[in-house]
Amino acid sequence: MFHVLIPDNVHQNAIDILEASAGIYVSAPGKMERAALLEAVVEAQALIIRSGVKADADLMAAAPQLMAIARAGVGVDNVDLAAATARGVTVMNTPGGNTISTAEHAFGLMIALSRHIAPGHQSLAEGRWDRKTFTGVELKGKTLGIIGLGRIGQAIARRAQAFEMTVIAHDPYLPPAIAEAINVPLLALDKVFSSADYLTLHAMVTDETRGMIKAETIATMKEGVRIINAARGALIDSSDLAAALKSGKVAGAALDVYEQEPPPADHPLIGLPNVLHTPHLAASTSDAQITVAVEAAQLIVDFLLEGKAANVCNPAEISG
Ligand code: MLT
Repeated sequence: MFHVLIPDNVHQNAIDILEASAGIYVSAPGKMERAALLEAVVEAQALIIRSGVKADADLMAAAPQLMAIARAGVGVDNVDLAAATARGVTVMNTPGGNTISTAEHAFGLMIALSRHIAPGHQSLAEGRWDRKTFTGVELKGKTLGIIGLGRIGQAIARRAQAFEMTVIAHDPYLPPAIAEAINVPLLALDKVFSSADYLTLHAMVTDETRGMIKAETIATMKEGVRIINAARGALIDSSDLAAALKSGKVAGAALDVYEQEPPPADHPLIGLPNVLHTPHLAASTSDAQITVAVEAAQLIVDFLLEGKAANVCNPAEISG
């Protein structure tokens, strides 16, 4: 009997799939504290996790029977891939399941930022009728620069084109034919930075992209650029962005993600008047949570019962 542990809240459909699979025993206690997780993982052959579970070297060391981890979501920055590889643990993700939810959230942030929807709501809720402070800007005719034209970036591009924006992108890994097919010119990063009225980030954090939005790059951007980040907090140097927001160089920022989550109370961007925040909600729709949970459960069933691995995030190392 394979033991699958789900130490976070995932949709019941995932649990149903695992329970219906002969040879699999599932334990799904909901969100687990770290100490309880380190005890429970001793028995587990497989884990299904969300971004809140840190699958680090200590967790791998506490899990001698672990064979596979399925991430119900895209980012595996909460998984120590090197430690998993060293232990022969296959890490898989569900890259397509929350594309539309994330794209819609990033697009919603862009509209809300442009039209001061959150502060406008707040002022009315507090009893003020202020139509002057919250004059906004249109998206139509503005240039949107997309950093990372993967699934989510492409979904944003299609929506921005429907809003009559000019869409440009930077993505050194995308086959140009894919960008051509959706009429998005792929440009050098500095060209996207200097041309965009809006920048939206959809890249992974790597040595190349970490802190890519920083004083030096912000200096090359248009006066009054607006920046949206629903990817990962570490793409932005928060102190540099805060300085640029205070000076007016950057007119506004809409952020769903932070270097540390939840962010510390003294985070330099929290509470600035021209910043719109959400607490990592981009993939939090009932639709996406069902899709990623079901996909993750199916990955684990196929892996444990049929020896099949898909969407492997550490393939070269495991096979080598
Ligand atoms: C993802 O990587 O799938 C999204 O950021 C959502 C999440 O982490 O839960």
